[in-house]
Amino acid sequence: MKPRVENPNAAPARRVLVLGGGFAAYRFVRELGTGDYEATLASPRNHFLFTPLLPSTTVGTLEFRSILEPLRGQDTAEFQLAAAAVLDRERKIVSCVSPLDGRKTDLPYDDLLIAVGAVPGTFGIPGVAEHALFLKEIQDARRIRRRVLDCLERASWPGLEREERMRLLTFVVVGGGPTGVEFAAELHDFLMKDLADAYPGIASRARIILLEAGPSLLGAFDRTLADYTSRRFRRARIEVRTQAKVVKVGPEHLDLQEGGAVPFGLLVWATGNAPTAFVKNLSLAKDAQGRLIVGPDLRVKGEEFIYALGDCSVLEGNPLPGTAQVAEQQGLYLAKAFRARAKGKPVPMFTYKNMGMLAYVGGHRAIADLPSVKGSGFFTFLFWRSVYLTKLVSFRNKLLVFFDWFKATFLGRDLSRI
Ligand code: NAI
Repeated sequence: MKPRVENPNAAPARRVLVLGGGFAAYRFVRELGTGDYEATLASPRNHFLFTPLLPSTTVGTLEFRSILEPLRGQDTAEFQLAAAAVLDRERKIVSCVSPLDGRKTDLPYDDLLIAVGAVPGTFGIPGVAEHALFLKEIQDARRIRRRVLDCLERASWPGLEREERMRLLTFVVVGGGPTGVEFAAELHDFLMKDLADAYPGIASRARIILLEAGPSLLGAFDRTLADYTSRRFRRARIEVRTQAKVVKVGPEHLDLQEGGAVPFGLLVWATGNAPTAFVKNLSLAKDAQGRLIVGPDLRVKGEEFIYALGDCSVLEGNPLPGTAQVAEQQGLYLAKAFRARAKGKPVPMFTYKNMGMLAYVGGHRAIADLPSVKGSGFFTFLFWRSVYLTKLVSFRNKLLVFFDWFKATFLGRDLSRI
């Protein structure tokens, strides 16, 4: 952080405490500028994760570090590796805990931004937390990558019973939203190409089963694009089962509401978001899903100095999707609003500009649901890649991602079990 030039006559800068390190928080601190505020960014992880490309890291299309940006070293904000635990509105402090050794510290604020995101929702379904893998953080992707290779190695063991081999080679994805679909697509690419070469006679027996409780995949996308994806998956022999609600999960099989059990070697749970423990414990205005209700200036309802943005918040009267795009636009808006306020200029209200949605559906094909046009296929895949290459923050990561794509296409994905 750059040292500030002290002016003894100036009013002390307002202290802005930003909780979180995702799209909303990261964009806010990058756009805040220096001089007007004394900002602190507190997050239990020291990196920003470019989540739209996270599914690609589960199979090695991209390497983990290619989509991470360090949170430390911003010109605009001090960084504290800390998880928010308790908010004291009277004293205007947030008690935080070190994720390393549990030490506690109090961080003061004049303005508080809550941008702590969400955690994977399990809806209290028994066994999910114990036996499923999630796809939210980079550690999750690492676990999945290792588990896929573990299953292939175990299935290659000589003399293994057929039934056990088939269980190990059954990869189940629960949730037919974009996370589940993109992961299933990446896993299929991995199986068909790299694993088929490395595990001849084994990888070809693997099954991918996608279970969706609702009537179709990709409920938030245009119908024609969702149907295109279902057709592509069917052709690729990814088994899509709709109206298939998972009600219980064991170590080696899961139960469906309609009856019947599905054995699995790997289970990835992608059924959407739930509030973090910190947000759950806040006595602030929330909706039925536990998200903080904010007004059009992103202030939490009934609060003067507390703002919420990104996945942990919901705009009153106009709920927006829990996407990176919304979070990023809110971070940018709030930084501009803070800068305007410091200059004594009028502060506009937040307006969301829908830029559309994209998803990778495997085999070098993608879908694009844009406000003006709907697209699918190979050229949409090139568009998908170019959009994300542009959106990645640093030049370093753009370069790394570009080379990872080149490497995966022409030299294959890395199969080391580390
Ligand atoms: P989601 O909420 O979009 O989809 C979850 C799916 O799981 C739903 O279709 C639901 O019916 C199903 N489900 C829930 N419980 C179930 C059960 N017990 N058994 C079977 N199925 C069950 O969640 P997702 O995909 O994690 O996305 C979260 C948010 O992030 C969404 O707003 C999404 O639009 C956004 N996102 C957007 C991406 C993109 O635009 N490319 C990529 C990833 C996420």
